Order: sequence, then C-alpha cells, then structure tokens
Amino acid sequence: RPRVFSGMQPTNASLHLGNYLGALRQWAAMQDHYDAFYCVVDLHAITAGHDADQLRQRTRVTAAQYIAGGVDPERSTLFVQSHVPEHAQLAWVLSCITGFGEASRMTQFKDKAARQGADATTVGLFTYPVLQAADILLYHADKVPVGEDQRQHIELTRDLGGRFNSRFGPTFTLPSPYIPEATAKIYDLQDPTAKMSKSVGGSGLIELLDEPKTIEKRIKSAVTDTGREIVADRENKPGVANLITILSAMSARPVADIEQDFVGRGYGDLKKEVTSAVMETVLPFQQRVRELLDDPAELDALLARGAAKAREVSAHTLRQVYDRIGFLEPE
Ligand code: TYM
Repeated sequence: RPRVFSGMQPTNASLHLGNYLGALRQWAAMQDHYDAFYCVVDLHAITAGHDADQLRQRTRVTAAQYIAGGVDPERSTLFVQSHVPEHAQLAWVLSCITGFGEASRMTQFKDKAARQGADATTVGLFTYPVLQAADILLYHADKVPVGEDQRQHIELTRDLGGRFNSRFGPTFTLPSPYIPEATAKIYDLQDPTAKMSKSVGGSGLIELLDEPKTIEKRIKSAVTDTGREIVADRENKPGVANLITILSAMSARPVADIEQDFVGRGYGDLKKEVTSAVMETVLPFQQRVRELLDDPAELDALLARGAAKAREVSAHTLRQVYDRIGFLEPE
C-alpha cells in the first residue's frame, strides 16, 4: 500500500478549524487506502519559545485530538516525533545538502521572522523545513495531506530527496502534497483575507476545544460583506465565501446546493447553520478528547507502541542513508 505521512505542531491547547478541515479530516479518510504515519511534531514546537509543562500537556492533547478526529491508532501509526531519534538525525544530514539561499526563500520562515524580529528568531526556526523534509523522507511517504500553507515545504522536501538520490544513489521516495482545493485554506472569521492561524490567534479563530458558547459567539460575530446575497464569491465576498466553505465541508453539502438554499435568506440564517454544522462535529469531538485525557497512561502506552512501529521504518532508512554518505557502521 502507498504511504502517507503528516504531522501538526503541539503549539496550542487546541487545534483550530483550519487544522481540522485542511488536514486532520483528510488523514482520517486516507487511512483506509494508505499505510499512514501521523506524528505529533514536538521537535518543531520548540523553535519559537515555549513552556516545558505546557508542551508535555499539549503533546498529549494533540495526540488525543488526532484520535478524536478519526485517526485510528490500530490502523495508522500514531506517534510523537521526539520518540523517534532518526528525525533529528536525518535532519542534520539533509541540512548539509540544503543551500542557505534555498532555506532563506521559505515564505513561512520569512513571515514568522518578520513578525518576531531578527534577535528573537532562532536557527531552529530557520532549519525547520529541513526537519519537516526529514519527517517525510524517513517513511518514504508518497502523499502528504496538508493545507496550502505547507506546499512550499513539500516542494523543498522533493528537492532535497531528489538531490540526495542523484548524489548518493536512489534512496528516497519523492512525495506529493495532497491538498484538496475546497479546504486548502480556511480563513480567519474576523479577517477573511488572512488564513485562520494559531500564531495570529484572536476572535477570528475557531478552536475545536473551546467552550461551545465561545465558538457560537465567534461564528455569530464573523465578518460578512456588504450586500445581502449568499454566494461563494471569494473576490468580492470573502467573509461569506469562507462561511459557505466551512458549511459545505462540515455538512458534506455541495457549495451550489447551499447557494441555492439560501436564495432570499439572510446572513443570520447562514451563521446559524454554520454553527449547528460545526457543533455537530465539535461536541462529540470534545467528549472523546476528554475521555482520552482521563487515562493518560493508556494514551502514553499507545504512543509508545506507535513510536516502536515508526522506528521499524525510520531506523532502516537512516542506516541506509548513513551507509550511502560514507559513515562507518559501528562495530
Ligand atoms: P501546523 O501545525 O501549522 O498545521 C497543521 C496542519 O493544518 C493545516 N492548516 C490549515 N489548513 C487549511 N486552512 C488553514 N487556515 C490552516 N492552518 C493550518 C496545515 O497546512 C497543516 O497541514 N510544518 C507543519 C507541521 C509538520 C508537517 C511535517 C506536516 C512538520 N512536519 C511533515 C506534514 C509533514 C506545520 O507547521 O503545520
């Protein structure tokens, strides 16, 4: 079976609707057809300053949300990145075939560095995409389900994998991004021209583990547009278009049907339907996360089993890489 690999950073107490629609939902759907590896990327989560106790807690909460979102730890390999040392080891090797200029062109890095200022920006944030490439290449992943914002990182992954293969002999599978267009980019409810993002935050963010009341309030106060028509017009009506995207994805109704349904109705009605569609997913999701966190020992055991499965693949790949580049095998 073809492989998939993907991951999310445990940088927040909750995933948001963009993480869910852009990534997690795809992950769950792909388990049936792929040999799937889903990772909580804690090494990536320390690149911009963090608190140790919070990270421990958020790593478990993130894993619990993968499961609550439909990832089945019996069918997929679910694990924590720092439990598998090969990620950091391969990242070092890849960093030695990555151009400084090439890494400098990563737009996510440029955006984050611009927000933080040069002195607060770490070397780890700079080499972050190389670690991401290592994550993917270690497992010979064919497909990487992510949101649009990760496309450039997957391209870098292909470039690095291809470069290694041509210098040292065929070793890596070159992955393709899997980015379904409808949910590739969910926008902020307060600023529907910017993507919904945990690092930006604010009341335009829908967090899956937020109080239902808060979620309801945020949808209610979402920015809409002038005029009254309910049409998915990204150019002229970005707020309404975003709400339609969310409703369509959460209720599995085609956009055209929704537009048809809302002819002659108002924005208030649209927001009500968005709210109930979101709640239908969020309430059982929250319940499941609570259950999983009630038994952290069981969750940790499950993550340990996942790491052991992941290492069966990653150790083999790293051994091969070390051999190809000329590292002596230890006696
Ligand atoms: P992260 O943790 O920022 O985001 C997790 C996933 O959610 C997607 N996403 C969105 N999709 C649609 N609309 C949005 N507004 C939105 N916001 C976020 C992201 O595209 C991502 O798929 N670098 C990665 C983590 C990573 C990774 C990997 C991913 C590390 N190693 C290997 C894939 C493969 C990141 O920061 O995602």
